[in-house]
Amino acid sequence: MNKISPVITIDGPTASGKGTVAHRVAKQLGFQYLDSGALYRLTALSALRKRVALDDEAALAALARVLPCRFVHGHVLLDEADVTDAVRAEAVGVAASQIAVLPAVRQALVELQVAFRVAPGLVADGRDMGTVIFPDASLKVFLTASAEARASRRYKQLIEKGISANMENLVKDLTERDARDSARAAAPLKPAPGAYILDTSEMTAEQAVQKVLGWYADACQPQA
Ligand code: DC
Repeated sequence: MNKISPVITIDGPTASGKGTVAHRVAKQLGFQYLDSGALYRLTALSALRKRVALDDEAALAALARVLPCRFVHGHVLLDEADVTDAVRAEAVGVAASQIAVLPAVRQALVELQVAFRVAPGLVADGRDMGTVIFPDASLKVFLTASAEARASRRYKQLIEKGISANMENLVKDLTERDARDSARAAAPLKPAPGAYILDTSEMTAEQAVQKVLGWYADACQPQA
């Protein structure tokens, strides 16, 4: 029998820590990991480099459909060039959020995302993993944190990488991005029905990982 591999979805706003948590949960379970935001970021980076306008829906969807990307040992490759740091730049994140409102772009990335579902399982993080891409997931989590907690985590990450940052601008960017991701008509950011809500403002990443693993263990228990 061709049994479909289990999926854990971890959706949430930008800088909520979902990437770190999803990656660690995948590692613990020996599952594949999908950072769906990276696909939107790669499409945006490709558009910026090719000077495709960020509102040219047809041209952006065409780029997304044949995105020449690979994920190798934690590195992101575009056209075989290492763009791991380039895709994380704030400007690319903002551009990704802009193109993510376009339904044709979202549609163009569906197949690529679904292809990550392989044995023994997948942990997928993003905005619409539980609502649109994997509605039959075994466990759905909505990970969130206050705008201040998220801005301060992003600030630390940027400073550690030697990139200068300003807290006030970060809070403003996060709030604008949240508003755009939540208000859009196509696959808006919102908890999936049945999702567990996890506010990590006062939690370490490890505590959040243990919480998700506990929920997954419960979800795998045979029903009495
Ligand atoms: O998770 P991230 O910050 O890397 O995502 C960048 C942008 O991509 C985010 O602002 C919205 C968009 N995105 C999306 O619309 N749907 C997803 N599943 C993942 C990301």
